[in-house]
Amino acid sequence: MTNKTEHDDLTKLAIKYDTDKWGSHYYTQHYHTFFQHLRNQPIKFLEIGVGGYNNPKKGGESLRMWKEYFPKAQIYAIDIFDKSPLEEERITIFKGSQIDESFLEKICNEVGNFDVIVDDGSHINDHIIKTFQILFHKLNQDGIYAIEDLQTSYWRHFGGDSLNFNNKSTAMNYFKNMVHGLNFQEFHNPFYKPSFYDKNITGMSFFHNMLFIQKGNNCEGTNVMKDNIDITLKIRIKYFKRKIISHIYDLFR
Ligand SMILES: C[S@@+](CC[C@H](N)C(=O)[O-])C[C@H]1O[C@@H](n2cnc3c(N)ncnc32)[C@H](O)[C@@H]1O
Repeated sequence: MTNKTEHDDLTKLAIKYDTDKWGSHYYTQHYHTFFQHLRNQPIKFLEIGVGGYNNPKKGGESLRMWKEYFPKAQIYAIDIFDKSPLEEERITIFKGSQIDESFLEKICNEVGNFDVIVDDGSHINDHIIKTFQILFHKLNQDGIYAIEDLQTSYWRHFGGDSLNFNNKSTAMNYFKNMVHGLNFQEFHNPFYKPSFYDKNITGMSFFHNMLFIQKGNNCEGTNVMKDNIDITLKIRIKYFKRKIISHIYDLFR
């Protein structure tokens, strides 16, 4: 963690707008690392979860922070409660659930795809997974998908599990297993069919309670493999044969 007294620009704004993204959590230092190159871009930014729960006038702290941090961005948010009184110039809020696919589709049809998506909504494990499965497709190329509060992966009342760390239904396990896909081109398996995520995730970075997923074309190629077949295998077999022959030759000399 960075020195708590030397704040980056985003952490200063988190303190100014009193969001728990710094103080209760220490997320802004990581956000600053991943987002600073986008600061002056006219990006579309979506945050799930406005804050303040059923009080329509409460919450919105992080939205105001993002608005100042990204001066050219359009900030969008969704919340299960009506948060329309918190809308302001460059901040648009939709009411609906993060797992309602038709609601999310409707938003994307209206505003287009996003450059950044932050999930700070219900934090229920299957919601986190389902929302990602819907919205990762709505993220632009080179976009960033961030998920907060993954500690709920260990909390039963959120669908988590502290006893079985291989429990497939937790969000941490879902994303942890996805990490292999970053290297799918190296699998020794010519029958392997890469998934959409294999081909479109270029980076996954885990921090305390949070995760960043970078979208891009994950097809750099490899120095050894082509279509999941080791192209150096023939060369190595030839070399190995030669070695055996010379060894036998030496024996009978
Ligand atoms: C932790 S607060 C968000 C805080 C805010 N992002 C911030 O940093 O200031 C979580 C919000 O998610 C909303 N929420 C809960 N379940 C939801 C769901 N299924 N879909 C959308 N929003 C939900 C809650 O109403 C609440 O306002």
